Amino acid sequence: MDKPVDSRQSGENERRILKRQRDPYLFRSIELRSITVRNRIMLSPMCQYSARDGMPNDWHLVHLGARAAGGAGIVFTEAVHTEPRGRITQHCLGLWSDEQRDAFARIANFIATSGAVPGIQLGHAGRKASVGRPWEGSNPIPAAEGGWDVISASAKSYAKDWPIPHPLTENEIADQTTFLAASARRAREAGFKVIELHAAHGYLIHQFLSPLSNDRTDGYGGSFENRTRFLFESIDAIRSEWPGELPLFIRLSVTEWVEGGWSVDDCIRLAIGLKAHGGVDLIDCSSGGNDPRQKIPIHPAYQVPLSRSVREGSGMPTGAVGLINSPDLAEAIIANGDADLIVLGRTLLADPVWPLRAANALRVPDKGAWPVQYERSNIF
Ligand SMILES: Cc1cc2nc3c(=O)[nH]c(=O)nc-3n(C[C@H](O)[C@H](O)[C@H](O)COP(=O)(O)O)c2cc1C
Repeated sequence: MDKPVDSRQSGENERRILKRQRDPYLFRSIELRSITVRNRIMLSPMCQYSARDGMPNDWHLVHLGARAAGGAGIVFTEAVHTEPRGRITQHCLGLWSDEQRDAFARIANFIATSGAVPGIQLGHAGRKASVGRPWEGSNPIPAAEGGWDVISASAKSYAKDWPIPHPLTENEIADQTTFLAASARRAREAGFKVIELHAAHGYLIHQFLSPLSNDRTDGYGGSFENRTRFLFESIDAIRSEWPGELPLFIRLSVTEWVEGGWSVDDCIRLAIGLKAHGGVDLIDCSSGGNDPRQKIPIHPAYQVPLSRSVREGSGMPTGAVGLINSPDLAEAIIANGDADLIVLGRTLLADPVWPLRAANALRVPDKGAWPVQYERSNIF
């Protein structure tokens, strides 16, 4: 027969369980330099292919603003490019002019007044630039048809029938870091509080990192040190304009999922180097994008082990991204120490108020994150 239950003890247990449920890891704030983020949920950078001449517009304001009002901790813009040739498509964003900066300022301000931290991803598409939008087939568009000539580490195309890029000279590499520093300055002036340097998905910096796309014989190719040189110079360029009290993230493809390509071990080695170098606060752990032969084992949370490997192997804070779709899964990832941030792409594309729903699901009693205008919707 069961022992009679001591009601005081069971009440205590219940309180303990409730306390645990009410203090979920996903909704604990995190300090990044001088910035406090209200929870661990970050909107992943996602191209909207909706700009003209690199200018943000009402679409970007509403899209990003909705996710900020929806309770995300950090709201990142899509990839914003440092020069016109760096855009993936003609409809991608840029930050090479003061006019663009001023248009971004309105968006950064709205995100901040909604309680989220405004972040901007800076990048350059290199040899993967000048393509059509996804719904137009994402195929290369030649200069004669309104596109432009592309650049890279080496004269190696991304795929068969893609254009052979112009390999950057050392002076042209220096130009790229100058463009990056100018964009970082404008990001600061626009009111962004976090920059993420896009060094993943087969774009320009990744093209330097990978032995599959970099066969240079100068100081930027060959050895691991040489292939990572442009990345470190890019970080230093950003930091020359980005204040010490503001955080800098870097997005890396932790593995290329291709034999002989950039690997998890390479990434851990790089992360150890980044930690020693300083200036970078978190590694956003993505994968792939540099070689069409990649074989990605896609399933929920498929990149979380990459984040864990980098975090454990280097001691650097990480973000985990990729098919994270339930509050319990997100909570477990933070609770297990697999990552410091949960980075959500399509989950937040489909549901801008996912963080508010997750707060309900995980029984966070503090409704502070709900905008007062939305409080009465909190009945589910
Ligand atoms: C429409 C769309 C646009 C994207 N644009 C970017 C981008 O600008 N920069 C980037 O680093 N990743 C980009 N990604 C990748 C996402 O940020 C994210 O890493 C990926 O979708 C996996 O996360 P998810 O399963 O939560 O969507 C994009 C993804 C989608 C679906």
